[in-house]
Amino acid sequence: MKKGIITAGILAIIVCAITAYCRADGNKTISGETAATESPSAQQADYITDGTQGKALVVYFSVPETDGVDTSSGASRIVSDGKIMGNTQYIASVIGEATGSALFELKTAHTYPGSHKGLLDATKAEIDNNVRPELAAHIQNFNDYDIFFVGFPNWWYDMPMPLYSFFDEYDFGGKTIIPFCTHGGSRFSGAVKTIRNMEKDAIVLDGYAVARDLVGEARPDVLNWLEKIGMLK
Ligand SMILES: Cc1cc2nc3c(=O)[nH]c(=O)nc-3n(C[C@H](O)[C@H](O)[C@H](O)COP(=O)(O)O)c2cc1C
Repeated sequence: MKKGIITAGILAIIVCAITAYCRADGNKTISGETAATESPSAQQADYITDGTQGKALVVYFSVPETDGVDTSSGASRIVSDGKIMGNTQYIASVIGEATGSALFELKTAHTYPGSHKGLLDATKAEIDNNVRPELAAHIQNFNDYDIFFVGFPNWWYDMPMPLYSFFDEYDFGGKTIIPFCTHGGSRFSGAVKTIRNMEKDAIVLDGYAVARDLVGEARPDVLNWLEKIGMLK
């Protein structure tokens, strides 16, 4: 009887050890599939599956404001190597350099006001009217890319309306989207969920969000994140 209990105990330990190993190995090499079985949507993944990295493009939308001095004073721009950049533009440049990817700036046919107040009013009107702003630039060789970093500022607890135009324009089926955003405290709000809803046949990673007053010192954090998701060059 005692021998039977000991044998059953040893068997239970072996089964637990094998299960734990399989889970750890699954997390290490097949993140997307693991996420698909453990989460409600097959679109969610924590990082790029080993060995499947394709060519990446860093798409970004950014509107450097003309009032204020820098991010620490609440303005949405940063000076890097003497160049004035929007917050999201700066993060995009770090990602582009660290992953060896080309940058693509999402531009609208119309120009947004530079002043904070003007920008608030113009963008609120767009949201209220559910506008899809016309884009002035288009990705010519879209099918050359498998992975799209897509960066934007949080505007009104959402992604800016030009991002809706962008996701309407292209079919991301079979591609991987890696969102990133800069914000004043709301992180992504519901934007990642919105992207998953708009691009049901794409894998959409959880992405990276950075507060605007930390943008200037975010580089090491961005590199850590890129390493974690398997995208550091
Ligand atoms: C029109 C507008 C609306 C904004 N709405 C939000 C918001 O809802 N939540 C938030 O955290 N930050 C908000 N912000 C702050 C921006 O997300 C932040 O300043 C961002 O870093 C700007 O990025 P950019 O310089 O790349 O344009 C808003 C800024 C603007 C101009």
